[in-house]
Amino acid sequence: MDEKKFYLDTIEQIVPAQREQIVTAFYEFLELEHLYESAAEIVKTQLNIYDNEFSMKFQRNPIHSIESRIKSPQSIVEKLQRKGYPVSAKSAEQHLMDIAGIRVICYYIDDIYAIAELLTRHDEMQLVKVKDYINNPKPSGYRSFHMVLTVPVYMSTVKKRVPVEIQIRTIAMDFWAALEHQLHYKTGCVVPPSLKEELKECAETIAETDLKMQDIYRQIHELD
Ligand code: GTP
Ligand code: MG
Repeated sequence: MDEKKFYLDTIEQIVPAQREQIVTAFYEFLELEHLYESAAEIVKTQLNIYDNEFSMKFQRNPIHSIESRIKSPQSIVEKLQRKGYPVSAKSAEQHLMDIAGIRVICYYIDDIYAIAELLTRHDEMQLVKVKDYINNPKPSGYRSFHMVLTVPVYMSTVKKRVPVEIQIRTIAMDFWAALEHQLHYKTGCVVPPSLKEELKECAETIAETDLKMQDIYRQIHELD
């Protein structure tokens, strides 16, 4: 949905007494933003370190690309309301694990697990949540490896632990997720069941291809 339209619709629906609270929360979120941006930068830097090291040792990069985003104040308010949590910065810090989000696009399925394992073993990062939608795909057909880590951000006077949600997937899984997301967005979330089934079949075909590519890679490297 268009964020501006969403924001206007949201504000119109809010009774004046709540409006003030939401505006206050907006300002508080903006103050928090740099903290989440810093946490995302720390994780991205670490990912680039692993990628460069792999490249030196094995003449191949496991990571195709990295994307990141910070949740907008509008989306934070919408999610807190949808989940029935109070609308405040404190509540967002406590309940939302995906204010900072990083998407790591890998070449092969093995790379996904290798990267996830390295992050898990990192001394400074603490694992909060893992969801393996590759071994347990979502009913939609969605495949990806999700994890939430907290990373320490050293400010001038305090150290803060900040959660970052990391989605790791192959180029092929990302291709499917991007198109499927766009299809839902275009149709305003009503995709008929028969088409949902077809989309799921596409995800399965893509998953088979990922496995075949992985197998080809392994066979070629056994020849080395
Ligand atoms: P939330 O409260 O919505 O964050 O639920 P959750 O914490 O259980 O999140 P989940 O692990 O399901 O992952 C949420 C994110 O994964 C979404 O913001 C999307 O980026 C992605 N995602 C999950 N399911 C799908 C899907 O069916 N299709 C696509 N394209 N993306 C998905
Ligand atoms: Mg989430």
